Amino acid sequence: MDFEAPIMPKRDIPNILITGTPGVGKTTTAKLLSEYVEGLKFVNTGELVNSEKLYKDWDDKFNVPIFDDDLVVDFLGKFFNF
Ligand SMILES: Nc1ncnc2c1ncn2[C@@H]1O[C@H](COP(=O)(O)OP(=O)(O)O)[C@@H](O)[C@H]1O
Ligand SMILES: [Mg+2]
Repeated sequence: MDFEAPIMPKRDIPNILITGTPGVGKTTTAKLLSEYVEGLKFVNTGELVNSEKLYKDWDDKFNVPIFDDDLVVDFLGKFFNF
């Protein structure tokens, strides 16, 4: 069976997604990483969802947007080659 490797854009650094419960140190760790690794950019997805309105629904109970993963991935993909 023929196998064709997918054509991937050249990338020098990885995309690192940090998730977890509030207060465990995600933002602190991510910012530090981006300061020490050249080329690595820090993106706060929660803030991005709000500023770029990457949501379609709203959670009235907690008064927060329910982010839309397609909108987020499409938006980030423009900047990070994926
Ligand atoms: N390794 C660590 N040791 C002790 N305190 C930390 C550490 N990392 C973060 N903190 C502190 O914990 C609190 C929450 O960190 P933060 O990075 O905002 O968490 P998150 O983004 O996961 O909600 C902040 O006051 C931060 O200074
Ligand atoms: Mg945080």
